[in-house]
Amino acid sequence: MAAKIISGTEVAKQIREELGREVALLKEKHNLVPGLVTILVGENPASMSYVTGKQKTAKELAFHSLQDSQPEGIPEEKILELIDRYNRDPKIHGILVQLPLPKHINETKVLYAIDPRKDVDAFHPVNVGKLMIGEADYLPCTPAGIQQLLIRSGTKIDGAEVVVLGRSNIVGKPIANMLLQKQKGANATVTICHTATRDIAAHTRRADILIVAAGKPKAVTADMVKEGAVVIDVGVNRIGMSKEGKAILCGDVDFEGVKEKAGAITPVPGGVGPMTITMLMMNTVKAAKVAAGLK
Ligand SMILES: NC(=O)c1ccc[n+]([C@@H]2O[C@H](COP(=O)([O-])OP(=O)(O)OC[C@H]3O[C@@H](n4cnc5c(N)ncnc54)[C@H](OP(=O)(O)O)[C@@H]3O)[C@@H](O)[C@H]2O)c1
Repeated sequence: MAAKIISGTEVAKQIREELGREVALLKEKHNLVPGLVTILVGENPASMSYVTGKQKTAKELAFHSLQDSQPEGIPEEKILELIDRYNRDPKIHGILVQLPLPKHINETKVLYAIDPRKDVDAFHPVNVGKLMIGEADYLPCTPAGIQQLLIRSGTKIDGAEVVVLGRSNIVGKPIANMLLQKQKGANATVTICHTATRDIAAHTRRADILIVAAGKPKAVTADMVKEGAVVIDVGVNRIGMSKEGKAILCGDVDFEGVKEKAGAITPVPGGVGPMTITMLMMNTVKAAKVAAGLK
């Protein structure tokens, strides 16, 4: 039987509606407006399109939103000065620096300069550390989106065998850590696979929940998936251009083959992607509430 499709587009819409209501209440009861600044350095087309998407959503949710675009050649100390200014700006609750930064700027130094209370991407080591010990204030956006997709699709996570393909700092490691915590929406047995894993299929075939963040088109095929498993495809691979000049995307999972075997699966596009920006908005609302002493 064909798998149930877990639509990130639908779940993201539902969460944005909830956030919209919360933002309206914060304004009405506390005169509090969540503030988000996105800092973009240079004119990388992919980065520009990501930042535009974030700003558009922030505006739709009636945030105080600022787009700060800086030239490619801006010196590192100027970026650090900017961050210091936003760290002290009471109207700004979330600071997002769009990555990657140009080569002459030390990304780690920039990310470490953000006040952890305004680090809505959750990349600062303080927030990474808090996640590790199960005391996260902010969850990194893509893993948070994956967890919400699992919870809101009614997937049983408690006690499940979870296998994560990929160990990046932005997806693989944090999602594995989050699902491992002895908490609601987690409490799973987690295995992480990577390029040095000896027999990847032996692991993936045991998974009740398979999360694929390998960055390799169709790395997971039907023979690697257990009957009835829930498959979350994080991959976004550009495999060509349509006649209309739009990028043709595919995930890390062979969707057509795997959907005949899995119990549920996320599509690409329309799966994890739409959740990431939504989680950024959720973190910004939380940051505003924390700053106002409401959380
Ligand atoms: N939808 C979203 O919002 C969103 C957000 C972030 C990323 N993504 C997408 O998700 C994918 C992964 O992103 P990332 O930043 O985590 O990638 P990354 O930094 O390139 O890491 C890929 C990881 O996958 C492992 N790997 C590669 N091929 C593998 C294979 N065949 N089997 C098992 N493991 C394999 C690598 O192992 P080693 O460590 O051994 O090299 C590495 O740990 C990309 O397609 C990216 O575009 C989507």
